[in-house]
Amino acid sequence: MADQSSLLVIGGTSGIGREIAARAVARGDDVVISGRDAGRAGQVAKELGAGATGIALDIARPHDIADALASVGSVDHLVLAAIDRDQNSVQEYDVGRAIYLSTLKLVGYIEAIHALLPKLTPTASIVLFGGLAKDRPYPGSTTVSTINGGVTGMMRTLAVELRPVRVNAIHPGIVGDSPFWAVRPDHVLHGYRSRTPTGQLATMADVADAAEFLLRNNSVNGVDLNIDGGWMLT
Ligand SMILES: NC(=O)c1ccc[n+]([C@@H]2O[C@H](COP(=O)([O-])OP(=O)(O)OC[C@H]3O[C@@H](n4cnc5c(N)ncnc54)[C@H](OP(=O)(O)O)[C@@H]3O)[C@@H](O)[C@H]2O)c1
Repeated sequence: MADQSSLLVIGGTSGIGREIAARAVARGDDVVISGRDAGRAGQVAKELGAGATGIALDIARPHDIADALASVGSVDHLVLAAIDRDQNSVQEYDVGRAIYLSTLKLVGYIEAIHALLPKLTPTASIVLFGGLAKDRPYPGSTTVSTINGGVTGMMRTLAVELRPVRVNAIHPGIVGDSPFWAVRPDHVLHGYRSRTPTGQLATMADVADAAEFLLRNNSVNGVDLNIDGGWMLT
């Protein structure tokens, strides 16, 4: 494994972001995680171990992002995993929810990167999280499909504008052991599993492994990587 690195995970207090942070702490990396609440972020950082620090950051409030990131030191690897959940359809369109979630991912991710530009090391790399709702919508996914599709465009323009910094995106399918899905009834998960060629849903470990690959491989750039067990083929 490479030398010790500094990793910032925005949305690192839960789920996939936390998994990525935990693995980096275990490797001996210097890790900062963020969540909206300082107390929760600090508590999760404590649980992860001595190499982790927690900070408060609400990326749905883009004007405050730079101040919230002021304490962060140099960044070798940056992961943007933050999300909030949403049900929205064009028939029952909730403009407030749509603005909130679009701001969080489409403006918040970019403003966080903008604020961090002076801190990115010359060989830095970035992983953005979208999701397969961009290609496979479900009832109520109108905003989620839109913003996750937007992550692809974001990733491409940033890979060009930020060069030589590398920028890639991960689009998970249903991650069966993530907090959002792990509490669903088994018959619901079974339906998705049975449509997946591997017969299994992706795990948080699978997604974290992919994030590490994208962050560390010096020639992978501008890639949208689906982690879905081949779900999109069926
Ligand atoms: N899980 C899946 O099956 C799946 C599928 C497709 C795509 N994805 C994508 O993968 C990424 C991670 O998903 P996950 O399920 O692991 O997430 P999760 O467990 O719901 O965690 C979300 C994280 O985002 C943070 N967060 C929420 N609102 C925020 C805000 N306004 N500003 C800053 N941080 C905020 C949360 O921190 P606090 O609550 O502490 O603020 C938490 O750390 C997301 O981008 C998601 O779209 C996941």
